[in-house]
Amino acid sequence: MDVSVTTARALLPDRPLTSLDEYIDTFDGGQGLVRVRELDASEVVDAVTRAGLRGRGGAGFPTGRKWASIRGGGLEVGDRYVVANGAEGEPGTFKDRMLMRRNPYQVIEGLEIAARTMDAVGAYLAVKSSFTVEIDALTRALGEMRDAGLVGDVPITLVTGPDEYLFGEEKALLEVIEGEDPLPRMLPPYLYGLFTTSPQLGWSAGIDLSSDGPVVPSSNPTLVNNVETLATVVPILGRGPEWHRSLGTPESPGVALCTVVGDVRRSGVAEIELGMPLRDVIETISGGPRAGHVVKAVLSGVSNGVVHGRDLDAPVTYEGLAAVGGGLGSVGFIVYDDTADMVAVARMVSRFLYVESCGQCPACKFGTGEVTAYLNRIAEGGGSDHDVEIIEARLSSVTDANRCFLGTQEQRVIGSLLRTFPEEFAAHLEGAPPSLDLPIPKIVSIDDGVAIYDERQMRKKPDWTYEGE
Ligand SMILES: Cc1cc2nc3c(=O)[nH]c(=O)nc-3n(C[C@H](O)[C@H](O)[C@H](O)COP(=O)(O)O)c2cc1C
Ligand code: SF4
Repeated sequence: MDVSVTTARALLPDRPLTSLDEYIDTFDGGQGLVRVRELDASEVVDAVTRAGLRGRGGAGFPTGRKWASIRGGGLEVGDRYVVANGAEGEPGTFKDRMLMRRNPYQVIEGLEIAARTMDAVGAYLAVKSSFTVEIDALTRALGEMRDAGLVGDVPITLVTGPDEYLFGEEKALLEVIEGEDPLPRMLPPYLYGLFTTSPQLGWSAGIDLSSDGPVVPSSNPTLVNNVETLATVVPILGRGPEWHRSLGTPESPGVALCTVVGDVRRSGVAEIELGMPLRDVIETISGGPRAGHVVKAVLSGVSNGVVHGRDLDAPVTYEGLAAVGGGLGSVGFIVYDDTADMVAVARMVSRFLYVESCGQCPACKFGTGEVTAYLNRIAEGGGSDHDVEIIEARLSSVTDANRCFLGTQEQRVIGSLLRTFPEEFAAHLEGAPPSLDLPIPKIVSIDDGVAIYDERQMRKKPDWTYEGE
């Protein structure tokens, strides 16, 4: 059974809600939409801004500022769209799927609120086609909410996409919604949104520049928010921004859905109040490390530096984890105990990012590939000091001219592992036994405290085909 660690109980029920009525009874469902009718759009944006909500998709961008920027601009910007990002591909994270499974209504209410506030002409809910349980839950909830007249002013379309990690990257997500592959375009969604007609600098120009007709520029600013971010807007409007501010810290207010997996007694997802010490979060959700072991390191997905086991008192906030070299990311913690081989962890992360890199930016694809190759050599016992120097050199250039953040993730995670656990790399250079091949914790399910990782990912090749298929 999964636990809820907050008394606020703003997002996640203990089990899936079975009907719209249950959502209305348990979570005051519909209250956010009632409030939206009473306010004008700028007051809604103001409430979200005052609440201090930061995006739960990983980067922690202030949601109010994002909403204000999408609403900015005159008529010439064209149509506006809103997208709920439910692609959840970050290793060590399962919270979006838990939310969509248990409380799909609140995700849809949040999306409807955003769509009305943006005066959007269309809204999209994007999930992976492999998320069948979530698709069923969302489809049922959408039907019930339409029948009840709660949503429908703005058409909402459920879009399914591929298993690739990049599908969740916002510029790639828009490509998928337009029927393309998940390759990040050049410009961000607020400058170059869905179905634009303006010339773009991206890889798949949307208009024929050779045509003689006039080009009518319209950037179609598109709001992309993570599904948890949108669901959190509902109680912010229903209970008020002060309620949100009363939880967490000034820089990281509110609650968050948190996943814990790895070398722990049980894996799980829970709603936590931000600001709890990392040690308590791990202890409460997972029961802590297995008997006789201690935590050596914690990764927050594969987007931030590693947190050393001696820093577990750090508060789970944006600022608290940054202060110890990590980051909040999408609040998914992968715990490693004292048996873990951090060279094996570095190789696993680097390989994942190399395989998932789309190759549009040479520094990213070649850099992650080379770092992976040198880490392989060190892990297998054939490395030298020079290999570490080469890795450091590649890490300094892996972000050059990149369209998305993936290269930065490589730089952050691998760089921090080298800096935090130099003795483990040295031991491998001095003849320690070869590292085992660790599975990347790309979660396909968490049931009864057991996380199942995607075994197919281990066979995925850098051209996105699979060994043996
Ligand atoms: C490689 C990569 C993968 C990403 N995957 C996801 C994802 O699965 N889900 C998500 O919400 N955001 C993901 N993001 C972040 C999105 O690009 C975007 O910042 C986010 O959806 C914005 O929502 P927020 O402001 O509510 O956090 C990813 C980013 C990168 C660089
Ligand atoms: S940075 Fe990497 S993953 Fe992102 S678009 Fe460029 S090559 Fe693709």
